[in-house]
Amino acid sequence: MKRNILFVDDEPNILQGLRRMLRPMRDKWDMHFAASGEEALELMTRVSMDAVVSDMRMPGMDGPEFLRRVMRDHPDAVRFALSGYSDKQLVERSIAPTHQYLTKPCDEKKLIQSLEDAMNARAFISNKAVLDKIARIEHLPVLPRAYVRITDELSKGDPSPRAVGEIVAEDVGLTANLLKLVNSAYFGLARPIAAPQQAVIVLGVNVIRSVILSLHVFKSFETSLEQSFSLSKLWAHCMRTASIARGIAKFEGLAKEEADNAYIAALLHDVGKLLLNAQCQSECKDIYAEVRESNRLVAEVEAEVMGLTHAQVGAYLLGLWGLPPAVVNAVARHHAEDPEPGGLCAASVAYFANMLDHDVFIFNTHYARPQFSEERLAGIGGPEVVARWREAVVALGISEEGA
Ligand SMILES: [Fe+2]
Ligand SMILES: [Fe+2]
Repeated sequence: MKRNILFVDDEPNILQGLRRMLRPMRDKWDMHFAASGEEALELMTRVSMDAVVSDMRMPGMDGPEFLRRVMRDHPDAVRFALSGYSDKQLVERSIAPTHQYLTKPCDEKKLIQSLEDAMNARAFISNKAVLDKIARIEHLPVLPRAYVRITDELSKGDPSPRAVGEIVAEDVGLTANLLKLVNSAYFGLARPIAAPQQAVIVLGVNVIRSVILSLHVFKSFETSLEQSFSLSKLWAHCMRTASIARGIAKFEGLAKEEADNAYIAALLHDVGKLLLNAQCQSECKDIYAEVRESNRLVAEVEAEVMGLTHAQVGAYLLGLWGLPPAVVNAVARHHAEDPEPGGLCAASVAYFANMLDHDVFIFNTHYARPQFSEERLAGIGGPEVVARWREAVVALGISEEGA
């Protein structure tokens, strides 16, 4: 089935340019064009759009206002903002309703790929009722400002640690939290880090960006979760899992990009739990009661009760935000029993890192000892390999609380 995509811009030249540039997509996309927010909303009452791409600066209804109305009335449409360099203030106002930002002029390949990836993310949620519920969260966490700006810098090329450090430093609270975190035992760094710029040099832009994202996501759920849900325990689990993933990647000499993706996926692998617990509280209560009673896996019971798992919900959110497909796939599959086709990759490392954290740190009377999938084990060369990783992980000296 063809996808419906709506482009909104008050400048006829820009719409014309998009129309011409995207002509090769005619077989896959039904493209619609509107010259104002008002016209676009009117069109949306007749055609159900899969995605909207909106200009920011428009007379009458501007981009942020248009996207806000789309979020309210058509929550499951993917929302992209197309902004110029001078639109800083408009970008600030559009952070809540926007899934992703693209800067003008936008490269054809990037636009097509970003739209396709974000629309594909919806396929992770096969249960329509749950999709509606989740897509409607008014307070679906939004991408943090610093993350958006670093991403923007990355899209212009290889940003200097100094430029990235300066973006972080503008936010005093973020800087404090980031420094506290990178100096904690989770990172096991030899020397303390005193400034964001230094953190970027030591850990790399991609890792810092994902740490900012996860700090922010966890923080944004602080107030919307039941008291019985332990945010700090989940945070500690995710941080340890990320450290373990990095340990495995290093042990196996994984290439830099794959190792970064494994780390990022491990760090964010359980964000779906936050979303599900905040939005489907009564179902989650039943799920956790059953998990405690029968000592079964959370994901297994979720699938039974809700028809989907926190892994799929997490992948949906990260896909909408435009995280690399390798990361989204790894998050989606972190409880999957079948192995990855290509051998050791971000997804298999994330799976084993999560399992090893359960095995080394979480395993107790309330949690069943994790059973590694036979197929997964065969996929990486057998249980001896995991036994070696386990030793390496223990040798890393990650402490339970990380600090
Ligand atoms: Fe999980
Ligand atoms: Fe987990």
